Order: sequence, then structure tokens, then C-alpha cells
Amino acid sequence: MATLSVFGAQWGDEGKGKIIDLLAAQADVVVRYQGGANAGHTVVVGEDKFVLHLIPSGILHGNKLNVIGNGVAVDPVVLLEEMDGLVARGIDVGRDSLRLSASAHIILDMHKVIDNLSERFLGAGRIGTTGRGIGPCYADKAARTGLRVMDLLDPDRFRVRLRATLAEKNAWIEKVHGHAPLGVDELYDRYASVGQRLAPFVDDTGALVRRAWKEGKEILFEGAQGAMLDIDHGTYPYVTSSCTGVGGIGAGAGFPPQAIDRALGIAKAYCTRVGEGPFPTEDHGPEGQRIRDMGHEYGATTGRPRRCGWFDAVAMRYALELNGASGVVMTKLDILSDFDEIRVATSYDIPTVGLEKVSEYPASLARLDEVVPRYESRPGWMADITGVRQYEGLPQAARDYVEWVEELIAVPIVMLSVGPERDQVIPRGKND
Ligand code: IMP
Repeated sequence: MATLSVFGAQWGDEGKGKIIDLLAAQADVVVRYQGGANAGHTVVVGEDKFVLHLIPSGILHGNKLNVIGNGVAVDPVVLLEEMDGLVARGIDVGRDSLRLSASAHIILDMHKVIDNLSERFLGAGRIGTTGRGIGPCYADKAARTGLRVMDLLDPDRFRVRLRATLAEKNAWIEKVHGHAPLGVDELYDRYASVGQRLAPFVDDTGALVRRAWKEGKEILFEGAQGAMLDIDHGTYPYVTSSCTGVGGIGAGAGFPPQAIDRALGIAKAYCTRVGEGPFPTEDHGPEGQRIRDMGHEYGATTGRPRRCGWFDAVAMRYALELNGASGVVMTKLDILSDFDEIRVATSYDIPTVGLEKVSEYPASLARLDEVVPRYESRPGWMADITGVRQYEGLPQAARDYVEWVEELIAVPIVMLSVGPERDQVIPRGKND
């Protein structure tokens, strides 16, 4: 493994948690480098289901170091709840298994309040955020008014900085949104104690990860959300506020990007999206509903029903190229077992400008709204594949589908996932 980046190659919710948990078995260090508690990484171990929002999915293995890097927007209250929840279920969460960057920015109540007020303000133009305060926290980071984990550890400094930033935030909350201001003392009391509990886990995580790398340790970088939600390269403004792909690792983990050996994209055998924004292959009809029902496509963080549709080879080629992926893991192949015909968008038509068979993802949001996907289809396999563990054991039609998609995206599909359990995977014996 050496250093491996695992990223979502669609609009998030690709099943990264399960794959990262699986790959973590071979890793020494697992690092989150962006996003925050907007993520919901689901890992099923036997009868137990874990949904991790902030802690890297390697935590369930017990003997790994899990790192929350400086690029993560950390909600300290959610983090503590998550830690306590894991401990209550017998998972070891100590300094040996978890470290938190002193430089990570923290999400406070005001960020969540502003996130939700801004969404209401935007009305029809809303982004459909998770309401977890992600955008406002990263906005403060960029504006250089943010508070960081290190501030939380120093009560006096925290009070001074909180008072300063809250004065401006409260003016905004009250005057623009007509909402009650937040009290500095309540906020201070709520977070100062949290800071004391997190203190033993705080570290210079960039130095830690670089040292581990120099010692020859295996490092896994766990992406959250997906390539199409990337703040720079996604469907802006309908994106999250961080660099979701390989490009985010350098800044968000403090790790030299040229030292990342390989990148693995995770993609469902179909597509989903939560929140607003373009989604060319969305199926508003009964088939989209069937995908939602079969795939239990409801948000792990918000419970919102996900928008569902067919695999989009155009968007996927873009996401894989952008991240230099050398392999793809295709998840939830079993969900398509009930369809007698399976569609894939192989190119787009953009009738408003007279373009046909466009095979490159259009950068312009206006164009994306006008896209009409061109579908091709293959027969379904109409058989339960959840018990299959070897590629040769799959029905021919399922193999044809996988190989057809592989040809369309021009990157090897190195593993298939056919159910939520750890062992429900089919390796493909390709060099990833
Ligand atoms: P935010 O990250 O909460 O600001 O939300 C911005 C957009 O990203 C919204 O469309 C969310 O639904 C989407 N989003 C954020 N996190 C996730 C995720 O983990 N999975 C899927 N979509 C996400």
C-alpha cells in the first residue's frame, strides 16, 4: 500500500466507509484531511453497524492510528459524542488510536446557526447543505477569523477569540436574519470543557504522518464526500466547502502530494446525490424510486432521501482523470440485481447549443443544467449476487456490465462490493 488515497468518485455516499475499513486492515495510519461531520461513513461488522462522521474508519480495527488532519472542520461536540459512542461499544479510543490536529478549525454553534439561516435566505437557490456548519466554518478559515483546536485548549485565549468573532457573527445573525444572538458565556461554557477532554488527543498531525511515512508505515488517506462535490472542481455552487479529492491531501493533511503513490476511486454501480444541484442521470420515475428502495438510499447523516439515477460514465471519467485514479472500486452492484435492463450514460447531448455526444464533462453549470444524457443499456442478470465472492462466480450479464463500464471509464475496476458486510466483496485480481 505505502500511501494510498481513497476518494469518492461521484457525489458522495459511494460506500467509502466500508472500503476504507477493509483497506485499513493493511494500513498503519488512516488520515481524514477534509470535510467534517457532514460525512457519514457506514461500516457494518457482523451484527454491528457503525456510522462514523469524523473519526477515520480505521478505528474499528483497534491497532491503527487514526488521524483527524488540519483540513478537517471539527465539531468538537460531535467528535466527543462519537468517541464516547465507540467506547461504549467496546472500541478502543485512546491516544494510541486517535490524534486530532491542533490546527484543525472548529465548528461552533454559530456556524450551524448561520448554515441553516443562510440556506433559508437563499430560498430556491439553496444548496441543500447538511446543516452541520461546514460552509461557515471554512468561510471563517479563509477569512482568517476562525477558531482552531489549539484555541480550544487555552481557555483564556479561547474566550478572547470567541468574544471577538461572536460580536461580528451576532451582528449578522441579528441584523440580517432577525434571529436571537448567541451568548458568549453559554458558548464558552459549552466548549471550554470539551476542549479539556480532547486535549490528550491533540497533536501536530502533519509531522506525525510525515514521520510515519519516513518510517515506511502504510498510510491511507480517507476522502469524504465526492469528486463532484469538490469546491473547485465540482458542480459549484452546489458543492461542499473543501477539496474532496487527492488534491486536498497536501493542504489538509500536511503531506507532500508527490508522495501519494496511488489513488483509488469509489463509485456505486449507479448514481445518487443529496442536496440541490445538477445531476444529469437522475431518474425521477419509478426506476429511480426502485434504486432508492433497493439501495436504502437515505442519508447516513441527515436521513434525507437521496436522488437516484443511472451510472454516469461522463462524470466518472472526469472524476477519475481529475484525481489520477489508477483503480476503481464499484460498490452496491447487488442493488441492480432486480433490473432487467441497466442503463449507463455514455455521453451527453446539449441541445440548447446544438452539441451531440459530448464525452467530456462540461465545466459550466449552465451547460450542466441543459445536458440530456445519452444512454446505452445492457441486460440485467436478475439473480442474487450477494453471496458471490469470486469474479467468475458472477452471472455472465453482471460481468458484462462491469467490463463494459470499465471500458467506458478506462480505469480498471479492481474490486466489487455486493453487500454491506466486510466480506461481501469480490476482488478482481487487477493491478490497482
Ligand atoms: P455541506 O457540506 O453540509 O455544506 O453540504 C453541501 C452539499 O454537499 C450538499 O448538497 C450536501 O448534501 C452535500 N454533502 C455534504 N456531505 C455529504 C456527504 O457526506 N455525502 C453526500 N453529500 C454530502
